Amino acid sequence: MDRIQIRGGNRLQGRIPIGGAKNAALPLMAAALLTDECLTLSNLPHLADISTLANLLGRHGVAIQMVGDEANEGHIGRVLSLQAKEITNTTASYELVRRMRASILVLGALLAREGKAEVSLPGGCAIGTRPVDLHLKGLQQLGADIDLREGYVHAQARSGLRGAKIVFPFVSVGATENLLMAAVLAKGESTLSNASREPEVVDLAACLSAMGAKIEGAGTDTICVQGVDRLHGCQHPIVADRIETGTYAMAAAITGGDLVLEGARREHIVALAEVMTDAGVTLEAVPGGLRVSRSDAELIGVDVMTEPFPGFPTDMQAQMMALMSISTSAAMITETIFENRFMHVPELNRMGADITVHGASAMVRGVKQLVGAEVMATDLRASVSLVLAGLVAEGETVVHRVYHLDRGYERLEEKLAACGAEIARLKH
Ligand code: UD1
Repeated sequence: MDRIQIRGGNRLQGRIPIGGAKNAALPLMAAALLTDECLTLSNLPHLADISTLANLLGRHGVAIQMVGDEANEGHIGRVLSLQAKEITNTTASYELVRRMRASILVLGALLAREGKAEVSLPGGCAIGTRPVDLHLKGLQQLGADIDLREGYVHAQARSGLRGAKIVFPFVSVGATENLLMAAVLAKGESTLSNASREPEVVDLAACLSAMGAKIEGAGTDTICVQGVDRLHGCQHPIVADRIETGTYAMAAAITGGDLVLEGARREHIVALAEVMTDAGVTLEAVPGGLRVSRSDAELIGVDVMTEPFPGFPTDMQAQMMALMSISTSAAMITETIFENRFMHVPELNRMGADITVHGASAMVRGVKQLVGAEVMATDLRASVSLVLAGLVAEGETVVHRVYHLDRGYERLEEKLAACGAEIARLKH
């Protein structure tokens, strides 16, 4: 299994290109199921999760072709064409769904197009139980019969889906996306209230609209959809990854460095930028991106609570904790989205951090210096927090189980090494 070896202490300086957002790419790829025409997605990141979904879509009958992997109209990622002329199979098997929870995103689209779908229940994951009850309840409100048998969701809508008023009891990104994909082909009008306002939902709505869907209110908490009979193909560039942006912003901050994040969009990281500014980090918009730097100024402890967008993202909580672990004061970090998202705490403590967990909050008392150690990655964002800690720790850090990182960060070690980090992937 690959490991990442880091020798800490170098200030990072240079430019890092930000890729397309994984969490936008996944629902956008699933949207290909909604039309028999060709959907062309550009700025696609090259990541394990993208290949997993491509594999699953292939089993449903989607023909997928790499159209290019060069720079394309200012976008750096790959260009993929996806065409589902016919849906050949409506079953998403456990074998593929268990590898990636986001596979549940095919449910709404398959049901809308074919009137039926059988999708394996994704089960729990390292960061919590993560049920899909909101997805299923919403689809039932759109007129689907849902039956749970032998670990699978069996969904049917014999006479098609009908528009409905859906009120989510709390914000769910995935449920909003699944219901949006189902509603665009349902008969009549649907309203999604308490919908997710995440930029990835806005990107999905923009693409669906370009495919002929009638959607209003994406980016607010109420989305209105007027169902249409059919959708057509389109070309869509995937929005820049705000979590990759935030992660490299933290890399600049933690090392006292100076990085330009190319293609980053400040409006997608407003809450994070505020917190980082309060902590003593400088963020400024520059042509084509965002510059993040920290001089020798002290890092100040700042309390943070994770919230749905536009609040502070749960996907940046572990990285923020790594930064706060070397602040000159203390910071309380509270996780409100997932119930088990502090697995990086014991690993950071092995590197000399002083963090104690009390229920959903972690008290981080800043230490002068982290020290390199062998540590274990447990999930995607937890693993990158260990890399960040390694960049500033004294001596050598080895992060094990980096396959978690490969699910969400493209060429992480190359991007960091190009800016002066001493980092390498050890293959075994
Ligand atoms: C997405 C992101 C993930 C991010 C999360 C929150 C993708 C592929 N993943 O995950 O990186 O951390 O948003 O910003 O986009 N919940 C239920 N029932 C449901 C659905 C969700 O109880 O039917 C709960 C979850 O367990 C969690 C909370 O709601 O506690 C929010 O989850 P949700 O927004 O749905 O996250 P995902 O879409 O799975």
